[in-house]
Order: sequence, then C-alpha cells, then structure tokens
Amino acid sequence: MTPLVAIALLLALVVIVALGGYAMAWLLLINAGNRLTKKQLALQSGMHVLDVGCGSGRYTLPMAQRVGSTGEVLGIDLQAGKLQRAEQRLQKASFKNVRIIRTGAGEGKLPHEAFDRALLFAVLGEISNREAALAEIFQALKPGGVLCITEGFLDPHYQRQEQVRSLAQAVGFVKEHCRGNRWLYSMNFLKPEAPSH
Ligand SMILES: C[S@@+](CC[C@H](N)C(=O)[O-])C[C@H]1O[C@@H](n2cnc3c(N)ncnc32)[C@H](O)[C@@H]1O
Repeated sequence: MTPLVAIALLLALVVIVALGGYAMAWLLLINAGNRLTKKQLALQSGMHVLDVGCGSGRYTLPMAQRVGSTGEVLGIDLQAGKLQRAEQRLQKASFKNVRIIRTGAGEGKLPHEAFDRALLFAVLGEISNREAALAEIFQALKPGGVLCITEGFLDPHYQRQEQVRSLAQAVGFVKEHCRGNRWLYSMNFLKPEAPSH
C-alpha cells in the first residue's frame, strides 16, 4: 500500500466515524425532542392539530393516534416528495383523521380559529418569511390554543430561544412554558383568549 492510499483510507475512516457519530447524535436528539414535544403538546382525544412542516409525517402519525377518531391532524409542507412519503405512511397505517396539504405557512391557506395545537418541530429556521408564517399560525389557532416550537442545536437551521420568543411575541403569542435546555428545547406559546393586539 502506497502512503497516498494509506492516507486516503485513513481520511475515509475519519469521515465515516464522524458521519456515524453525527447520525447517532441526531437520532438521540430527535428522540429526546419527541419526548419533550409530547409533554408540551399534552394532546387529548378530540383535539385538532396543525403540523407545520410535517415533512414525511414522522411526528404527524403519533399525534393522529393520540387525538383519536374524534380529533384531526392537518399536516402542511412545501416539499411534494416528503408529502408523498407521508401519504404512503398514512395509507399503510389506515389513518382516517389526517389530512395532508402542500402549502407553506404564511401563504394564507389555513382556516381561521380551527386548531387547539400547532407544532413546528425543527421547522422555524427553514421558513423564509417567519413573521408571516407565525402570524398565519396565530390566526389559525383557536383562542386559548397553543403553539409548540421544538428546536435542537444539531439542526443546521437551529433557532435560539431568544429569537423564537421575540418572533412569537411580535405576532401576539404569550410565552407560556419551556422544557429542555439551550441545546434542545420545546417552547409553548399561548394564543390569549382575548388577543392583545
Ligand atoms: C427538518 S424538516 C422537519 C420535518 C418534521 N417536522 C419532523 O420533525 O420530522 C423541516 C420541514 O419544514 C418544511 N418547511 C419549510 N418551510 C415551510 C413553510 N413555510 N411551511 C411549511 N413547511 C415548511 C420543509 O419542507 C421541511 O420538510
């Protein structure tokens, strides 16, 4: 083996170990985020939930299971490929209480005062117009409804708590409750019964 090949192999090994470590850390973070989010959402049967940036439905399906047949989950996302994967999962699991729509938060397609909960799980940083998106989510929640935002630092679009708080409060949300720490957290915001703006 020439020195050049040995160096190339060593580099490849380092990259593989680094990527494997990152993937493992990401999985652990997602699992911890799932647990925090579950506690924060406190879903009950019959609730109506909006999953903004639902992707391939990773968290949409467990929520649909929790709200049961009297509740409903609406998943929205911009990416057709991910939504197709979500639809396949739904069909496989025979869920009847989930709808999936290709649209973006901030595009004005959401119904008003329709949801008890809205979730943004690793999504906020990917939204191009965050103010418009949060304003539309605010409108889509029922008075007394809760927006839950979960963020983890390994996400390249990670948003700090201060940024999230200031964006949410600017559209009328009131900070209610945060679980986790600065690296991984799930933050609830309340839409007041009588909006203050
Ligand atoms: C990192 S993925 C998270 C997916 C899912 N929430 C999860 O936890 O598995 C972020 C998703 O946000 C979506 N997204 C970006 N901007 C959006 C917008 N304005 N409205 C809805 N979804 C959006 C992306 O298409 C992407 O699928």
